[in-house]
Amino acid sequence: MKVGVIGAGAMGAGIAQVFAATEGFSVVLADIKQEYAEKGKNNIITSLNKLVDKDKMVADRAKAIATNIVPGLPEDVSDCDLIIEAIVENIDVKRQLFNSLKNICRADAIFASNTSSLSITELSAGLDRQVIGLHFFNPAPVMTLVEIVVGLSTTDEMVSKMQEIVQQVGKVAVISKDAPGFIVNRVLIPMVNEAIGIYADGTASAEDIDTAMKLGANHPMGPLALGDLIGLDVCLAIMEVLYSETGDSKYRPHILLRKMVRGGALGRKSKKGFYRYD
Ligand code: CAA
Ligand code: NAD
Repeated sequence: MKVGVIGAGAMGAGIAQVFAATEGFSVVLADIKQEYAEKGKNNIITSLNKLVDKDKMVADRAKAIATNIVPGLPEDVSDCDLIIEAIVENIDVKRQLFNSLKNICRADAIFASNTSSLSITELSAGLDRQVIGLHFFNPAPVMTLVEIVVGLSTTDEMVSKMQEIVQQVGKVAVISKDAPGFIVNRVLIPMVNEAIGIYADGTASAEDIDTAMKLGANHPMGPLALGDLIGLDVCLAIMEVLYSETGDSKYRPHILLRKMVRGGALGRKSKKGFYRYD
């Protein structure tokens, strides 16, 4: 099966790596510019080389996985069987992309989205097929879960097909109906937002908030470090969707989160968030 992954950022690169490492799949990794796609592929090579350095993978295997990923532009996914979109978390931009894909892809190509929070049903509006949510977690090569998000007219046949693919790539699927934030992000991202509130109140330092949640709740990383890993722009986009879709003030994005995103402090991707990554 040929898989087109569009968006070669943190998630797109991780998802491309997952499919490229599975027998029977080949990958086109596309971005808005060829150089961004090349950069995404280089990030995958760096991540694979780390595994080789740690003796967790042999060099030939790392090379084979990398060779199975061809970087390109969105139009290069035209002959793919499955297209997974992992571009910016913005409904208008994603809809524009799917509308252009409709004209170049086969009628039987499956359209999937890695959206963190947006409505799958709305993403499908105006298309000749229903987009399905295939929500991987960061870092995709490590995290086991995939949420399969089912829109208003997703068929059972499509869900079964996705369950099979998720299992083939070694992940575990759960099914969520179309709802803001689905399952994980409705719980996880308000927690990150709350931790930002604790920090903004001056209650504790970033390090102590993270240590508290690591040692007091056994989380693998603290909520502020997690916000930096996810990307504070992505966290804000998810909170905006939860807030605007429900109207519930408990989902209001913290003002400090907005301020940091406006100031370009996006976390690891901008080398600056609650911590520095120089
Ligand atoms: N490719 C392959 N393997 C990788 C990798 C990659 N890109 N990155 C890390 N790994 C592997 C490492 O080789 C290591 O393997 P071993 O345990 O076999 O040695 C393992 O993953 C752990 O990596 P590290 O030792 O470097 O670091 P760590 O132990 O501190 O773990 C972490 C890092 C996996 C990120 C861990 O801290 C963690 O699980 N954090 C929480 C992540 C999380 O909650 N993610 C979900 C975010 S929400 C989301 O994704 C949804 C959304 O829509 C926003
Ligand atoms: P990112 O900012 O790291 O990467 C996004 C990539 O998409 C960039 O390389 C950008 O150039 C590209 N892009 C933007 N518009 C495009 C277009 N029209 N056509 C082609 N490429 C385009 O973002 P990310 O963190 O990888 O998130 C991508 C998607 O995955 C979002 O929907 C996000 O909500 C979701 N998601 C993110 C995480 C996370 O932890 N970061 C986890 C799960 C899901």
